[in-house]
Amino acid sequence: MSAPVRLGLAGFGTVGQGLAAILAQSADWVARRLGRPVAVTAVAVRDPAKQRAVPLPAGARVVADPLELAHAPDVDIVVELMGGLGKAHELIRASLENGRHVVTANKHLLAERGAELFALAASKGAGLYYEASVCGGIPVVQTLKESLAGNRIQAVTGILNGTSNFILSRMTKKGLSYGTALKKAQKKGFAEADPTLDVGGFDAAHKLALLIRLAYGVHFPLEKLPVTGITAVTPLDIAYAKEFGCEVKLIGQAKMVDGRIMAGVHPMLLSKSYLLAQVQGAFNAVRVVGDAVGAVMLYGQGAGGLPTGSAVLADIMALARDGAAPNNTGFPEKTLPLADILPAEESCGRRYFRFTVEDKPGVLASIAQALGDVGVSIHQVVQKVDPDASDESIVPIVFMTHTASQSQVDQALARIREFPYVKAEPVHMRVL
Ligand code: NAP
Ligand code: HSE
Repeated sequence: MSAPVRLGLAGFGTVGQGLAAILAQSADWVARRLGRPVAVTAVAVRDPAKQRAVPLPAGARVVADPLELAHAPDVDIVVELMGGLGKAHELIRASLENGRHVVTANKHLLAERGAELFALAASKGAGLYYEASVCGGIPVVQTLKESLAGNRIQAVTGILNGTSNFILSRMTKKGLSYGTALKKAQKKGFAEADPTLDVGGFDAAHKLALLIRLAYGVHFPLEKLPVTGITAVTPLDIAYAKEFGCEVKLIGQAKMVDGRIMAGVHPMLLSKSYLLAQVQGAFNAVRVVGDAVGAVMLYGQGAGGLPTGSAVLADIMALARDGAAPNNTGFPEKTLPLADILPAEESCGRRYFRFTVEDKPGVLASIAQALGDVGVSIHQVVQKVDPDASDESIVPIVFMTHTASQSQVDQALARIREFPYVKAEPVHMRVL
């Protein structure tokens, strides 16, 4: 058998240990598939003395500074599993500068600095692989880069953050408040102690930016991506969504509209009959529509040591095979063009509105009129008495509309907010 593929592993937390566990349990299988074994020769951690569920790989030396891995003579592929933007960026840059292949799970870094890092990798002929960075164990990067390469992608739509999906699932199934569901997610280890990236929609936005690069071969600057998290989703809106036969999910979507990309991450209502609506708990799913293939759906575990380690190992094995001609972005250009982005005010879709109003004659009619005046057509209306309401003179009125543009929605809301009988900030969500 040929000489081993030698890994320099930076980070030995959840994902690093998952990778090590798979390498230990499936060493023979991996060697058979590759025709050579895979060995971890060097590891970087912050605290080498820390007790870990999986021990540091036998025979691997521990280096004091991860940057050593970029130049170590006994490393073929640098595997960055530290996370964060500082040291991880320095390590990946130094490794690529040195012509060394890199595997990473760091979606945050690739979403922020991907344009620079992919250009550097291309100029050095180095591999920069990142299957684990989008939806953990789900092979969506490879699917877009290779399996669907001949398709013009019409839309990519996904549940890209397991923590948010777990929270919304608990709110829906058990009627929990957002705060209680968040605590459950933290207790189960899905959400971080500071869960802002997850529940704020930013983690899903990082993944969506990477999916857009793969699907359309363009750079979509992260700051141009509209993002709404789930922190303002209430049990009341989830209950109204049910009235319309819908679930509320945090959806990341990019769509081609007349040659321009409409993209964003938002909590959305979607019909219970959609496969995406059936994705429960911390699972992820991505639906890709290609012009030739039609709809393709991928579903699985978007986090966790073994699922994410599985994706990291797939990249290591792919690079061990195609390292001489790595395919990082799926496109041959060194620098991808900027995305042609549909202006936010032109983005269109159906809408859900909940207005909190005084229960008196003419209120419903005047709100309907304000929507109609800007060309928004109403599809359904629900007004129900809330038996738990402390003040029966204040009621929610809920509308589902036909397709409306963001500009129409903004105009209608600006007017409705000024009505004296509107007693709270209107709630509105997109409908998939
Ligand atoms: P983690 O459990 O926090 O582990 C991070 C590891 O990196 C630890 O071993 C830590 O060392 C080490 N580390 C951090 N900074 C370092 C530094 N400056 N020098 C040396 N070592 C350093 O993180 P994780 O959950 O495995 O996530 C790793 C990456 O995978 C992140 O980019 C994350 O976004 C991504 N990812 C994670 C998941 C998941 O399910 N967790 C899924 C998909 C993608 P010590 O152990 O000594 O503290
Ligand atoms: N924090 C992410 C999630 C997992 O909740 O989906 C890593 O991508």
